[in-house]
Amino acid sequence: MSTKNLEMPKIALGAWAWGNDGTFGGTLTESELRPVFDEAMKKGLYLWDTAFVYGMGTSETVLGNFLKNVHREQYLISTKFTPQCADPNAENAVTAMYEGSVQRLGTDFMDIYWIHNPLGAPKWITELIPLAKSGKIGKIGVSNHNLAELKQAEEILAKEGLHISAVQNHYSLLNRSSETSGILDYCKEKGIVFFSYMVLEQGALSGKYDKDHPFPEGSARAKAYNSVLGKFDELLECLKNIANAHNVGIAQIPVAWAVAKGTLPIIGVTKTSHVEDAAKAAELVLSASEMENIESCAKRADIDVIRMWEKEMK
Ligand SMILES: NC(=O)c1ccc[n+]([C@@H]2O[C@H](COP(=O)([O-])OP(=O)(O)OC[C@H]3O[C@@H](n4cnc5c(N)ncnc54)[C@H](OP(=O)(O)O)[C@@H]3O)[C@@H](O)[C@H]2O)c1
Repeated sequence: MSTKNLEMPKIALGAWAWGNDGTFGGTLTESELRPVFDEAMKKGLYLWDTAFVYGMGTSETVLGNFLKNVHREQYLISTKFTPQCADPNAENAVTAMYEGSVQRLGTDFMDIYWIHNPLGAPKWITELIPLAKSGKIGKIGVSNHNLAELKQAEEILAKEGLHISAVQNHYSLLNRSSETSGILDYCKEKGIVFFSYMVLEQGALSGKYDKDHPFPEGSARAKAYNSVLGKFDELLECLKNIANAHNVGIAQIPVAWAVAKGTLPIIGVTKTSHVEDAAKAAELVLSASEMENIESCAKRADIDVIRMWEKEMK
């Protein structure tokens, strides 16, 4: 429990793809991911987001193996309780899943611990209370919660002298429902850090994929995006023009946009070049007219990406 002095970086890195659960297509080995991890730590990107459900422990195990040789004061870890994976026989399913993460990640303190989604809410936030009171969690977070669910969780915790410090929702140029539904403003008002996930739409806004270069067949990404590739070409062109003007890669622009919107993006990284881009994007400043331009193009695309585990935020 010794990460109190470590500041929250502007960007977190996500390790869902490290779980090799078929979402991303292809498989990644630990030896392929090692340089990605090392590069990130070198670049000061030390906040890692994962979950037991990412490959049913695989992502946490890979990350835990890398963290073994790193001093606990040098990284922040963010992992999650996923209701769908709750052990029905456990006395306290949240504590039970947390203890599994402790084993895999090799640390008994989670800087952020999340209720991954509102299935069965508010049961799980209530079960989290003893764990939070034991001092084993830095910040309590809720993910995929709408405003009403977020407020309900807050009310329950407030009665115990605890509070929500972080929210993690889908937020990108192709899904701004956390903004339009008032969650972003609410978080700002309450000093809650808003973590934006899938800012790159799993690569669809990275410049690597388009209708001529679709996602690998057989992956969940292919299912979700291949049919809409071609419908936001103007947005991709706009991102490309702005990237060229700054002499950076296309993928840096949506990330810089998300930072400028006051959010903390979690970027999924599978290559060292992704880490380099993420680090640069954290420092990239977009002008007001560039921000306006990007948002207008995104609006004209008229696409709202809602994935199968998500709902419309109202
Ligand atoms: N709470 C939740 O329910 C939830 C849901 C989704 C995600 N998350 C979290 O958010 C993290 C990020 O989401 P995500 O990984 O699904 O999607 P993402 O960050 O939108 O996209 C990641 C993908 O974009 C591509 N990419 C990343 N940087 C790039 C760069 N600089 N240049 C070109 N391509 C780049 C890579 O694709 P290739 O590998 O194909 O190159 C990478 O796998 C996850 O790892 C997870 O930690 C949470």
